[in-house]
Amino acid sequence: MGSIGVLTAGGDCPGLNAAIRAVVTRARAAGKDVIGIEEGWQGLMGGTTRRLDRDDVRGILGRGGTILGTSRRDPYVHGDGFESLRDSVESLDIESVVVIGGDGSLRTAARLQEDGLPVVGIPKTIDNDIGHTDVSLGFHTAVQIVVDAIDRLTTTAESHNRVMVVEVMGRTAGWIALCGGMAGGAEAILVPEVGTDYDHLASRIRARHEAGHDYTLVVVAEGTPGPGGEVSSTGVDPYGFSRIGGVCQAVAGELERRTGFEARPVMLGYLQRGGTPTAFDRVLGTRFGVRAAELALDGDSGVMVSLQGDEIMPVDIASAVEEPRNLDPARFKEATWFFA
Ligand code: F6P
Repeated sequence: MGSIGVLTAGGDCPGLNAAIRAVVTRARAAGKDVIGIEEGWQGLMGGTTRRLDRDDVRGILGRGGTILGTSRRDPYVHGDGFESLRDSVESLDIESVVVIGGDGSLRTAARLQEDGLPVVGIPKTIDNDIGHTDVSLGFHTAVQIVVDAIDRLTTTAESHNRVMVVEVMGRTAGWIALCGGMAGGAEAILVPEVGTDYDHLASRIRARHEAGHDYTLVVVAEGTPGPGGEVSSTGVDPYGFSRIGGVCQAVAGELERRTGFEARPVMLGYLQRGGTPTAFDRVLGTRFGVRAAELALDGDSGVMVSLQGDEIMPVDIASAVEEPRNLDPARFKEATWFFA
């Protein structure tokens, strides 16, 4: 009897261990062998795997990160596609792989499916930019971390009459900024999907301060072009991906120059990906993992589990990663009623 492989690939996020635990528990309950693949696709390319049993995944539900490790190595970019994995897949008798990944890793999974490796995807990314699912694993926790930070930054901004510019992650999507900013009561939210009018923003801030509310909380998504029109980046990572980040510096400088109020940049960075998942992400990871294991046990492949309302549904994996799920302009409009 063959085995099911499970791996986590791409950037980590809270909730990955909940999903791993669920895949292993459900598959082992059916008597299926589970192979934990380490460091994403790298584990199949380099053969670093370990058998996982129920006892190996006890006590990890609330733990951040991933017990399997992760990486951005991609068999199509750093190897020979399916050929780089074939030896491991055959020697471990892997019938299908549950891929817990973001859009890049799921796109690779869809390609491998076409080339002959059966896959079942679980959408995870704090960016929440994967299509055909209401939400991705990890997003809820990242938003909660942003809100906790905004609550703290608001009291210090208030004490010093400052403009606080809080940069959040999201790559090209503004979901974390929108939901974090809305829940934190930000006076302005800047996202890549909606252009920023700095004249208008500065005059709104001035008017707010003149009316006696002399501090302002601005949330900016990392992928938003700065005042100069460029997306800020600190270079390229070892896998060739742009290291997006740093726009809060330019935005704070611009707002200070235009309004005359003291402005401070704060980049939340990797705090948003670390630590314990919220109850929502623990439940979502568990439900995603149980369903993914059941699909693999039934011999289904080429699918990704998704949340549709309250149901966990399989969708075609290739269609899900065709287009990034950008912010819905109607959702952004709802937030604007509360701007300064
Ligand atoms: O895709 C998730 C994410 O956290 C983005 O929001 C961010 O731009 C990127 O990953 C950072 O990636 P890395 O861990 O490679 O620096």
